Amino acid sequence: MSNIILEIDNVQKSFGGLRALKDLNLQVEEGKVHAIIGPNGAGKSTMLNVCIGRLAPDSGVVTFNGENVLGKEPHEINQAGISRVFQTPEIFPDLSLLQNVMIPAFAKREGAFKFNMFGNVCNEKAVLEEASHILHDIGLNEQEHDHAGSLSRGDKRRLELAMCLIQHPKLLLLDEPTAGMARHDTNRTIELLKKIKERGMTKVIIEHDMHVVFSVADHISVLAQGTIIASGTPDEIRGNPKVQEAYLGGAHL
Ligand SMILES: Nc1ncnc2c1ncn2[C@@H]1O[C@H](COP(=O)(O)OP(=O)(O)O)[C@@H](O)[C@H]1O
Ligand SMILES: [Mg+2]
Repeated sequence: MSNIILEIDNVQKSFGGLRALKDLNLQVEEGKVHAIIGPNGAGKSTMLNVCIGRLAPDSGVVTFNGENVLGKEPHEINQAGISRVFQTPEIFPDLSLLQNVMIPAFAKREGAFKFNMFGNVCNEKAVLEEASHILHDIGLNEQEHDHAGSLSRGDKRRLELAMCLIQHPKLLLLDEPTAGMARHDTNRTIELLKKIKERGMTKVIIEHDMHVVFSVADHISVLAQGTIIASGTPDEIRGNPKVQEAYLGGAHL
């Protein structure tokens, strides 16, 4: 039987009078790539922020690996095995790419916010080697000694992905990982996402680019106006008239 690694059960979230999430239910199977698509303002990022403890829902339950995560701090949820790539990259611009990738490995080991970033970073050979290896996989090895702040927006996003990978999360949440990337970089990211899949890491990917979605997803859920309106295999979603209507105003996926 398949194992559900993440379950969102009847979550509600309002901002003032705006109901951003309404009766939201979602089940993510372990080892799968689960894409979330939907129009702007549908509630996708809000859903993700609830899962990582950045936003408290008004009601409902989020279970990760059999444990309720609501009420936990973001760093506790991260320690439990969820990593996320944000819509806006969160990196250390004045440090090198290598240092950026090494920091989350130390944070995870020592406990977030309790580690001596600069004291440890330069001496740990194994972490350095792994960081270098990940940067190679991600295609940023030639810039590994450059300041992260000098990267293009697309490269910053891939750097942030590298910062997640070194934490070996059980579940990786990606909020529009290819936004702001040129086609060439998007294709590289698709290859990388496929490679991660071979390692068996579960992923929830919020994505606008249908080429990316249909290249990597095992399962697709469509979020519109704060609720899931359809869920199924890529073929089921492609052929679903309700989805085409809600998501693309009738255009074909
Ligand atoms: N912190 C916030 N305060 C007020 N409204 C918000 C906040 N975050 C999101 N919203 C609103 O909630 C709705 C869902 O937003 P969001 O989750 O960012 O959508 P998506 O990621 O699908 O584009 C939007 O109408 C947005 O304006
Ligand atoms: Mg969003």
